[in-house]
Amino acid sequence: MKKIINLGSLNLDKVYLVEKFVQPGESIHALRYSENCGGKGLNQSIAMARAGAYVYHAGKIGKDGIRLRDCLKEAGVETSFLEETGAVSGHALIQVEQSGQNSIIVHRGANDLIQKDYISNVLEKFSPEDVLVLQNEISNVDYAIIEAKKRGLRVVFNPSPIDENVLEYKLSDVDCFILNENEAGFLAGISEFDEDNAISRLREKYPEASFVMTLGEKGSYYFDRSRKFYQEIFRVDAVDTTGAGDTFCGYYVAGMIKGLNIPERLYLASAAAAMAVCVSGAAQSIPHLGDVNHFLAARERKAI
Ligand code: RIB
Repeated sequence: MKKIINLGSLNLDKVYLVEKFVQPGESIHALRYSENCGGKGLNQSIAMARAGAYVYHAGKIGKDGIRLRDCLKEAGVETSFLEETGAVSGHALIQVEQSGQNSIIVHRGANDLIQKDYISNVLEKFSPEDVLVLQNEISNVDYAIIEAKKRGLRVVFNPSPIDENVLEYKLSDVDCFILNENEAGFLAGISEFDEDNAISRLREKYPEASFVMTLGEKGSYYFDRSRKFYQEIFRVDAVDTTGAGDTFCGYYVAGMIKGLNIPERLYLASAAAAMAVCVSGAAQSIPHLGDVNHFLAARERKAI
């Protein structure tokens, strides 16, 4: 059985429910406050585990981050690679509007202390065809991509949050990109997003890669050089969209490792993401596979 190693961020999410996002020069009262486990890395590991995959999570936390380790363990994620550092844990300040939209500031903290030798030591424990999952919230992502590819691992990259530095990474070594609209447009090099244009540019730029592109209300796509599949969304009333993208990523990768076909992966990932937006918070909103199947059955849709 192929293994999944997720080298990713762990954040303490400080979540403020607000009527409207705070504007420059303004001070506002939060309607509610909570502190939860999050970080794109942690969320994706939990999503993969809840989708039924066995996942190793590697990353760094501070002394204040024991809760993050516990949260992964409780979800059944293997945490022996996690290291505690003297730095503060990564944390995110998240405003959530009543519409469910969010706005996030991340301080990388210990996530920024992922050194090259740590990455090499972790990757050494994995074999060709195992899968490395990466997001863009830790240091030395580029090194991890190159090293993993050298060792024959399959590299899944969710370049979130995206910035100019990503364009300097050796993206030709990425086997599968998981992108939202903003990330797809950025990598495709188009200023006005148009899905057909994004798809053809991405195919041209990275002909060996496969892509999963999530477009919010407009559904999601899988495409590679020769194939394209589409999945519509499951309509729900959103409470909080934080972590929905991570839920999608985790379910997609778990489906891949479990040998589901591509339409099945997209279908389950969309259903899981729809469920995640119905619950506040990031990690805590990620559903278990059994609950996703109940959700589907309640809609008279096929369980997987
Ligand atoms: O994708 C959601 C995540 O982004 C949050 O959990 C927060 O920690 C930020 O990393």
